[in-house]
Parts: sequence; C-alpha cells; structure tokens
Amino acid sequence: MKILVTGGAGYIGSHTCVELLEKGYEVVVIDNFDNSSPKSIERVKKITGKPVTLYEGDVRDGALLDKIFTQHKIDWVIHFAGLKAVGESCAKPIEYYNNNLYGTLVLTDHMRKHGCKKIVFSSSATVYGDPEVLPLTEKCKTGGTTNPYGTSKYFQEIMLEDIYKSDNEWTVVLLRYFNPVGAHESGLIGEDPQGIPNNLTPFIAKVAIGALPEVGVFGNDYPTPDGTGVRDYIHVVDLAKGHVAALDKIKNAGVYTYNLGTGVGYSVLDVIKAFNKACGRELPYSIKPRRAGDIAACYADASKAKKELGWEAKLGIDEMCASLWKWQQMNPKGYNG
Ligand code: UD1
Repeated sequence: MKILVTGGAGYIGSHTCVELLEKGYEVVVIDNFDNSSPKSIERVKKITGKPVTLYEGDVRDGALLDKIFTQHKIDWVIHFAGLKAVGESCAKPIEYYNNNLYGTLVLTDHMRKHGCKKIVFSSSATVYGDPEVLPLTEKCKTGGTTNPYGTSKYFQEIMLEDIYKSDNEWTVVLLRYFNPVGAHESGLIGEDPQGIPNNLTPFIAKVAIGALPEVGVFGNDYPTPDGTGVRDYIHVVDLAKGHVAALDKIKNAGVYTYNLGTGVGYSVLDVIKAFNKACGRELPYSIKPRRAGDIAACYADASKAKKELGWEAKLGIDEMCASLWKWQQMNPKGYNG
C-alpha cells in the first residue's frame, strides 16, 4: 500500500512516516519545507533503512499533485500540511485560510480526479473550543473556536464531511489530536520550532538546554488542582501509531472521527516536574499572567479509538519528557544545528 503524506517532513508527519515504513507501507511525501527541513526525511530513512519518495512543493500546486498521482498509485492520503501557530494565525488569517482551506480543496480535488478517495486528516482538539464537559468525547459540540488556526481545522472537518455526503465512495478519517509532545526514541527526529517556542514542552526543553532563562507558567488561578492549565499530552510516537491503526482497521467508506489522546490530564507544574526528572535538575520557573485565549483544562475520552481501532497511547509523561530531552541534547539547534 502506498501512502501520500502531505507535510511529511514536519513534526508529526516525520514520526508518522517512520511508523508507516516500519509497518511495511510505502511512503511518498510532499512538503514545501515552510516549517520543516528535508533533513527530517533523511533521518526517517536512517531510522527505518527504507526509501521515501520526496517531492518538494505545495499542496496548492495542482500540477505537482497531478504529477505525483500519475507517477504513483496512491491508496491513502494522510494530510498534515498546513500552518499551525495559534498566535500567528490571528495576525495572518488570510495566509492561514489560504494554506489550510485552499490547500485541502486543491488536494481533495486532485484526489478525486485521480480516483483516490481515502484521506486521514490531521485535526485537533481545538475544534471543541472551550469544553463544556470533560473528558471530551467525539460527540461533544465542535465550533466556538477562538482563532483562525482553530477555525481552519473546524472548517476543514466540515469540508471533508460535505465531500463524503456528496460522494459516498470517500473514506474520511478525522483524527483530533490533543497535545503532541516528545520525540522518537532514537533522538534523530523531533519538534524543531523556529524562534522562541509558543508551546510548553519545547519551551521547557530550551530552558533545560540553557537557551532560555526560565519557564513562564501562564496563570496559577485556574479551577484546576494546582491552579495551572491542564492538558492531555500525548507522545508523538503513540500519535503516529494512531494513524497507522486507522489505515489498518478502516476498510469501508464513511466519515470516522477519533480523539487521539491519553485520557490523562497533566498540569503545567506536573510537566515541569516530569521534565526535571528527565534532565536531572530543578528548572527555574515563575508564575506569569494567563495567556489570552487559553482554557483551564482539556483532556480526551480516547475510548472510541481503543474500541474501534484497537489503538491506545502506551507512553506516559516520563517517556515524553525523556525522549524530548534526548532529542534536544542531540540537536541543540534543531535540524540546523
Ligand atoms: C496549543 C494550541 C492548540 C494546538 C496545540 C498544538 C492555543 C490556545 N492552543 O495548545 O490549538 O493544537 O497548541 O500542540 O495556543 N504554557 C505555559 N507556559 C508556556 C507555554 C504554555 O504555562 O510557555 C501553558 C499553557 O497556558 C497551557 C499549557 O501550558 O496551559 C499548554 O500550552 P501549549 O503547549 O501552548 O498548548 P495548548 O495551548 O494546549
């Protein structure tokens, strides 16, 4: 089986390529390297000892998609390509909607044209907005997103559902990720944010390596056990395996939606403590004001994926922090170090 992975050089994409190759799938990647490096694909090949066909380019480039679908008989597309920074999306909504919505439209148009109607979409728990109940099941209300990045994920889910409604030959798998963290156990691939990281765990790792002075904890007056924000952190390797489980299990056309999380919530202070353990020292932190747009707590009910896909997260917070610390130490400046 041959899989086209859009955004395959990125953080989640590269880890998914490894898991696909190790399960015997053939992998074709399209990536414009907007927020990724071709080095990650070299590392994927090194880890697996298997070939990857790489096309540098954009999913909005229909001529390139024609070329790829003509040169390869693609069975499934796993669609990661897109912009993903919440703050930046508020400053650049046109770029975000263009990349994410138009990208998905050009991609699905060319999939249809070439008779490939199976897509796994990289969605996010952000589609639930501010949760009304916890844990979040797939039946919880979606929408009420607070930034163009989140809204683009929500709209893309609706677009893909409408495509299925118009043509029941499609298989659409919407995977709603909670907070992906950690790195491959080899330390060869991992998250490589540009500039000062926005997300918690890459920020902590930069403090641990000495590139930033201290962790800022955004608020300690939330209605959570220790007052800091609670999230469902999931090891990126478990997350990657969730995609493979979807391809392995889903045989019939339809729309399938799954939360990919662990079902366990950790606070910001829990994560700092776990990272202290991984790096062997107490990292400095200070309490800062709440970050605009943040919610108190968010965690998954991941039982549907377990029941239907036979998938569940196996790795805990200690493995997440240890693998991130290994990646950070082996690649202090990311792929460009
Ligand atoms: C964010 C996005 C989410 C996206 C996800 C990708 C927002 C509002 N949401 O989730 O849409 O899918 O990243 O992984 O940005 N924190 C600190 N100090 C920091 C950074 C974060 O205390 O320096 C806290 C936050 O307040 C939050 C927790 O750590 O409680 C996790 O934050 P982060 O890693 O940015 O992820 P989310 O905000 O949950």
